[in-house]
Amino acid sequence: MTAKLFSPFTIKDITLKNRIVMSPMCMYSSHNEDGHVENWHRTHYASRAVGQVGLIIVEATAVTPQGRISPQDLGIWSDEHVEGLQELVGLVKEHGAKIGIQLAHAGRKAELEGEIVAPSAISFNEQSKTPKEMTKAEIEETVEAFKKGAERAKKAGFDVIEIHGAHGYLINEYLSPLSNKRTDEYGGTAENRYRILREVIDAVKTVWDGPLFVRVSARDYHEDGLTPEDYITFAKWMKDQGVDLIDVSSGAVVPAHINVYPGYQVPYSETIRNGAGISTGTVGLITSPIHAEEILQNERADLVFLARELLRDPYWPRTAAKELGVDIKAPVQYERGWM
Ligand SMILES: Cc1cc2nc3c(=O)[nH]c(=O)nc-3n(C[C@H](O)[C@H](O)[C@H](O)COP(=O)(O)O)c2cc1C
Repeated sequence: MTAKLFSPFTIKDITLKNRIVMSPMCMYSSHNEDGHVENWHRTHYASRAVGQVGLIIVEATAVTPQGRISPQDLGIWSDEHVEGLQELVGLVKEHGAKIGIQLAHAGRKAELEGEIVAPSAISFNEQSKTPKEMTKAEIEETVEAFKKGAERAKKAGFDVIEIHGAHGYLINEYLSPLSNKRTDEYGGTAENRYRILREVIDAVKTVWDGPLFVRVSARDYHEDGLTPEDYITFAKWMKDQGVDLIDVSSGAVVPAHINVYPGYQVPYSETIRNGAGISTGTVGLITSPIHAEEILQNERADLVFLARELLRDPYWPRTAAKELGVDIKAPVQYERGWM
């Protein structure tokens, strides 16, 4: 039996050569604080493409300057960002990987000078700034910023767009009743809390017909918070809107203790995949090729996202292929040292 980890996966007109995804990871390396791609990004992402990762998802990239987590985040709020991103896309594709970008707005988790915004004027914790409650005009501008970001991502040549709806950033703040206390049509019921995400997806889809992923935090780890079962409902709505895959993470919308262990988020992926009938990706402390293979063989997810393990070993796909007894092609320059 050949390893499923190394079987192709097709979404719309894009075929990934394997099921290994580099999870989005902020590098905080736009040192001029202008959101531009720098040498670090070129080296970092191209290295994982040389390492034979199937899909690389570029870190949370801000759709507005105020939506950055830090001043050093990558940005896609201006047409001036397109050239650097286009170059990055070219460098990664040269090595046979597909490349996606995570479009993001940090909401109340922005650690920036000046005003920050969120659905409600509630800070994340005692140390963090209290955000301003967004007006409807600001919601509309933010939805438009995601659309413009998608348009620029398309110009830059990305294969996949992922909307960041997880980890307590803006969209997650709207979804969770813990951070969204609005009394207008953007708060209250599940339909209302989902409204901004619905609008973002619809807006993105007016300019983007390629594969669309959404990353979610499927559990708030709080008794009044959201659970994977709540996310089945959201995932069904996303599926109806034409989202192709849910990238299932968890937590970080409110401070909470999380008991983590390898694959702790896999059951959430499984719940959403089975409950909504949509493709999923799973992430979280997955380092072992056999574990990744087990997840795929048992249809608990369609793609396996790795973050920190790919920082330690950019050639993890080679490591995994060796362990699973699969031959994968080396970059021609590395053939003499590959096996
Ligand atoms: C340095 C670093 C930066 C991260 N930045 C992002 C990000 O930009 N967007 C995101 O959705 N998750 C981000 N994450 C979370 C990872 O994508 C991943 O979900 C998490 O690290 C768990 O996977 P792992 O155990 O394989 O590292 C980041 C994680 C790390 C370690």
